[in-house]
Amino acid sequence: MKLAIIGAGNVGGTLGTAWAQKAGHEIFFGVRDAKADKVQILIGALGGKARAGTPAEAARFADVIVLTVPWNAAEAALNEMGDLGGKILLDATNPLAMGPDGLGLAIGHSISAGEKVQGWARGASVFKTLNTTGFGNMADPVIKGVKSVMFVAGDDAANKPKVLQLVGQLGFEAIDAGPLRNARLLEAHAMLWIDLALNRGLGRDFAFAILRR
Ligand SMILES: NC(=O)c1ccc[n+]([C@@H]2O[C@H](COP(=O)([O-])OP(=O)(O)OC[C@H]3O[C@@H](n4cnc5c(N)ncnc54)[C@H](OP(=O)(O)O)[C@@H]3O)[C@@H](O)[C@H]2O)c1
Repeated sequence: MKLAIIGAGNVGGTLGTAWAQKAGHEIFFGVRDAKADKVQILIGALGGKARAGTPAEAARFADVIVLTVPWNAAEAALNEMGDLGGKILLDATNPLAMGPDGLGLAIGHSISAGEKVQGWARGASVFKTLNTTGFGNMADPVIKGVKSVMFVAGDDAANKPKVLQLVGQLGFEAIDAGPLRNARLLEAHAMLWIDLALNRGLGRDFAFAILRR
């Protein structure tokens, strides 16, 4: 499959590498500076499986676009990509902002980043996923033999199996978490992971999993 990864930082670099190496997908990183050393090192490590250009070039190339930019850059990055009709877009952002109690969610409860991204991504079918755990777990989602969970929320029932498969190829147990408005729950769930990791002593080497009886 042809994947555009918008942003090539912790999350974008990790996901692009994992999808190229584990599933053989072709990766096009959409970045602000394709010639930057860190971008060149990243695509060099992936051999012929990856390239880099502008977000608009990446989006044109791909069937599936994965948004991995900071929340405050999301609207501008999507504007730059123009018409995304017929594309699937996976939104991995979290609407983080510093508040009086430290890092928290800038919006929530009655709206979500995922729904706002759907409004900005012209014509794309948006899924909220890959936002609820740290990038280290995205590189290696299996802990002591147990797959960590990754939820997928989106309204496009026809394309949801494809998204669940992509997430599963990373090594997660991919779970359908309902419609896109449930991004409100997934972004709060992400904030819980962040709070546990940064403020409650769990660090980044833990993940959530589904246990069944
Ligand atoms: N870190 C995690 O473990 C984690 C986990 C789940 C979700 N998330 C979410 O994923 C997103 C990315 O996090 P991250 O940790 O990967 O951040 P990061 O390491 O800072 O990477 C962000 C990337 O976005 C690029 N970027 C910034 N503005 C851009 C624009 N206007 N157009 C195109 N690219 C742009 C940056 O490029 P430059 O190098 O040019 O600045 C960089 O490649 C955030 O929304 C975050 O909340 C993070």
